[in-house]
Amino acid sequence: MSSRPPRRSVMLSALLLLRAVTAFSGDGRAIWSRNPTVSPVNESQLFLYDTFPPNFFWGVGTGALQVEGGWKKDGKGPSIWDHFIQTHLKSVDSTNGSSDSYVFLEKDLSALDFLGVSFYQFSISWPRLFPDGTGAVANAQGLRYYNALLDALVLRDIEPVVTLYHWDLPLALQEKYGGWKNETMIDLFNDYATYCFQMFGDRVKYWITIHNPYLVAWHGYMTGLHAPGEKGDTAAVYTVGHNLIKVLYSSLLPPTSE
Ligand SMILES: *[C@@H]1O[C@H](CO)[C@@H](O)[C@H](O)[C@H]1NC(C)=O
Ligand SMILES: *[C@@H]1O[C@H](CO)[C@@H](O)[C@H](O)[C@H]1NC(C)=O
Ligand SMILES: *[C@@H]1O[C@H](CO)[C@@H](O)[C@H](O)[C@H]1NC(C)=O
Repeated sequence: MSSRPPRRSVMLSALLLLRAVTAFSGDGRAIWSRNPTVSPVNESQLFLYDTFPPNFFWGVGTGALQVEGGWKKDGKGPSIWDHFIQTHLKSVDSTNGSSDSYVFLEKDLSALDFLGVSFYQFSISWPRLFPDGTGAVANAQGLRYYNALLDALVLRDIEPVVTLYHWDLPLALQEKYGGWKNETMIDLFNDYATYCFQMFGDRVKYWITIHNPYLVAWHGYMTGLHAPGEKGDTAAVYTVGHNLIKVLYSSLLPPTSE
């Protein structure tokens, strides 16, 4: 199976996205001609001068896991992080550290209005759309939620930037396949991503595949600090890294047919 992202989708890692939104060829040079004493490696200095190009995207970003809450509301399936919180981080508060954006979406939209951002980056929770990670038909309430969010952003003229994977793998895929250790995940991710392109691609021009893959591999499978909390298997870390790179790479390929 190969990936068939829509032609106009821009599939990028978080790093590449930063490049895409900041690195308009040549614009950066003006920084140094304006004040040659400014250090190119001292980031805090960049904010002291009028150095942002006019088309710089000012915005804010979140991850579903950290803001949505509602970990089993309206048919959402558990993610590896829900499980990890339950088994490893028992001291979390009543909202599990999230701001309950699944319930208080309107408030968060008002906050975006208030901030006057030009984009909002958020992630889709895979198990909110597909409770066990797979299937042709998504959980209707999950679909409704993301459609409502996207419509509200479009209405406010806020550009959505959507991350497909910000760590919250459906728990079922961890249990059945061993998560990212298993290259089956590549095809399953492609199916999920293709679904998202088809459903949301009319409103989303900027896609991010995987948020911080390094943390997924290293802390998920080596230190155990992140879900799924596995420890000490260097081979697993490399396998996970390899599979994640394959996901990133296959997402960048042009469509094989259309
Ligand atoms: C970075 O720039 C700020 C502002 O000019 C300055 O206060 C700070 O000392 C600089 N840091 C380094 C590491 O040069
Ligand atoms: C927090 O997450 C744990 C594990 O997923 C769950 O058992 C608990 O019900 C959650 N608490 C709330 C308030 O959602
Ligand atoms: C991947 O998952 C399949 C199906 O559960 C299993 O047979 C296979 O051993 C798994 N491979 C790895 C590397 O875990």
